[in-house]
Amino acid sequence: MKNLFSFVIMIAILCSVTIAKDPKFIGVKKCSMCHKSAKQGEQLKIWKASNHAKAYKTLQTAEADKIAAEKGIKGKAVEAAECLKCHVTGHGVDASKFDKKFKIEEGVQCEACHGAGSEYKSMKVMKDHAKSVAAGMTDFTAEGSIEAQCKTCHNEESPTYKPFDFEKKWAIIAHPIPAKK
Ligand code: HEC
Ligand code: HEC
Ligand code: HEC
Ligand code: HEC
Repeated sequence: MKNLFSFVIMIAILCSVTIAKDPKFIGVKKCSMCHKSAKQGEQLKIWKASNHAKAYKTLQTAEADKIAAEKGIKGKAVEAAECLKCHVTGHGVDASKFDKKFKIEEGVQCEACHGAGSEYKSMKVMKDHAKSVAAGMTDFTAEGSIEAQCKTCHNEESPTYKPFDFEKKWAIIAHPIPAKK
């Protein structure tokens, strides 16, 4: 009982820290400053080669407009909330939560999965997992949490949904830090 109580208090504190510091989406360019070298694991290169990097541009195609029209959406796919919600980063979040240099055109960026990064991006915080999580970084240590994150977008709400084989799809976009593996 006492443990449960301290756990609840701890969560409350972690939440209040996160909210108090008000994390903003800073964009893939900022993350890449430290995550593009071979030593770090070339996360930028791996992400750029993935379809996530072009998810916004996909909505600018004639194919996308056709899919949108078939769903009864008036206007362009790239302007429709029904499409943007899975094809960009932080859709629906208040405009004040985006850094001036954030570019929506970059599609499904690092922070779509890792959380808005303004408060965890400093070297001091990044090197400490608990501090990073307290500052807004998504915690993927729990069993099944990675797959659950993917399925917030890879689900039947997608007009082009293909059954999501997690192991296979994760292998395509995995971007580990080499020293750790
Ligand atoms: C100032 C440099 C720097 C910036 C900017 C930066 N990182 Fe990091 N990041 C690091 C370092 C250093 C580590 C720790 C590597 C280690 O422990 O081996 C790290 C670790 C991580 C980890 C693993 C953390 C863990 O505890 O599991 C993730 C995920 C991550 N970064 C994502 C991001 C994202 C997303 C952004 C942009 C919002 C970003 N980083 C910006 C330097 C940076
Ligand atoms: C629930 C999340 C979600 C929503 C909402 C969504 N998409 Fe997607 N979209 C995806 C995912 C995930 C993929 C990757 C392929 C798949 O569907 O499994 C994708 C792929 C696509 C593709 C590439 C074609 C292909 O077969 O890979 C197009 C075009 C597209 N979406 C257009 C749209 C349009 C237009 C809308 C709005 C009417 C929309 N999407 C809404 C998640 C979504
Ligand atoms: C589609 C979701 C997604 C996107 C986009 C994404 N990541 Fe990740 N990333 C993950 C997940 C999930 C993990 C956790 C893997 C694990 O714990 O095994 C991870 C792990 C990491 C790690 C830690 C690797 C390790 O070995 O500990 C770093 C660093 C990282 N990501 C940086 C980035 C950067 C930088 C970008 C953008 C260029 C990015 N990620 C884009 C989902 C994503
Ligand atoms: C914010 C929404 C979002 C999240 C979260 C997300 N994806 Fe995606 N993913 C997309 C969209 C949208 C596309 C289609 C982009 C395009 O074709 O323009 C896509 C495409 C892909 C593709 C290439 C198409 C295919 O089906 O082979 C892979 C692989 C993929 N995602 C893996 C993952 C994995 C693994 C995770 C979880 C770690 C994940 N995604 C999380 C939105 C997301």
